[in-house]
Amino acid sequence: MEDRTGTNGTVFCEKGRLYTKSYDPGRRVYSERLLSVAGSEYREWNPSRSKLAAYLATGGVSYPLNRGSKVLYLGAANGTTVSHVSDIVCDGTVYAVEFSPRSFRDLVRMSETRKNVNPLLADATNPSEYSFAVDKVDVVYSDVAQKNQADILADNMDMYGARFGMLCIKARSEDVAAKPEEVFEMSKRRLQERGLKVHEMRSLEPYEKDHVMIVAERPRTSYAVAFREDGRFMMVYHPRRKGWEMPGGKVESGESSADAAVRECLEESGYEVKVIAEKDIGYCDVCAVKVLEKVSDGEMESSFFDSIPDELSFDRAEYETVIPWARSEIFRD
Ligand SMILES: C[S@@+](CC[C@H](N)C(=O)[O-])C[C@H]1O[C@@H](n2cnc3c(N)ncnc32)[C@H](O)[C@@H]1O
Repeated sequence: MEDRTGTNGTVFCEKGRLYTKSYDPGRRVYSERLLSVAGSEYREWNPSRSKLAAYLATGGVSYPLNRGSKVLYLGAANGTTVSHVSDIVCDGTVYAVEFSPRSFRDLVRMSETRKNVNPLLADATNPSEYSFAVDKVDVVYSDVAQKNQADILADNMDMYGARFGMLCIKARSEDVAAKPEEVFEMSKRRLQERGLKVHEMRSLEPYEKDHVMIVAERPRTSYAVAFREDGRFMMVYHPRRKGWEMPGGKVESGESSADAAVRECLEESGYEVKVIAEKDIGYCDVCAVKVLEKVSDGEMESSFFDSIPDELSFDRAEYETVIPWARSEIFRD
């Protein structure tokens, strides 16, 4: 059994066939072949039954999954591909969204022994329907075979802060009359209009006719955890999101994450700041910064806090980690 190059040690090959290492040894999810090698069980992954396997079998190079990834999977059906994603992200989580109650029953059965699969009976066109169960994810994988596939992916990536998106486009689901190539180009353009960088658009032929897989990435963002000398930290109030958040935003081309945090602080709050430390938290960079002085009116209302306020735009748990980190970096001595 060899590693399939570029899959971070999560997908394997033998005699030209793909395999994943079973999360749930001894059990088949569909009629896949099981193989025992050196005390581990591997499940054959047929590219004609799974578009993610087809993407790898046709040479896909932008595979973003690893063992610890959190994946939001849209259009889980009865779990054929989800089961392999569960093998792949064995130390992570798969949130599997499906709106057909019949398929959902199979997903629930599978999740009884695959503890990293969380089945959600919900409509992927309305991502807030499952916000009670899903927090931030690393990757959104979408295979909903319905109209507006690009927007469904982008809406879910926005809502759940995903860095990567994988989108299976079935040309006929978008428009039965249009040429498949036009549909694919239109979907790619739409993702770019939504601010995503498209790394790869790969035809899944000969395994799936008139299908492509698009892999996209959200450009890097950066935010500042800004402390004043009195030990209080700054947040800005976002009127549309109706919550307090740390000043930050997109890293522009030619900028470092630290430059972006300084610029965003100034634009949003009117405060000049100095970067003390930086930290990569996966989907974005966080900078611990010292507040210097107010030099202009910011675009947003800003305030200094002793503790995290109740009304927040984003995840409290993340702030509970980054604020103590920034405090210890800034007040080291
Ligand atoms: C092509 S199948 C998915 C196959 C599956 N990804 C696999 O590889 O095993 C598309 C699935 O998406 C589901 N679906 C379509 N639109 C949806 C939506 N808006 N929300 C949730 N599920 C949806 C369908 O019920 C169907 O089960």
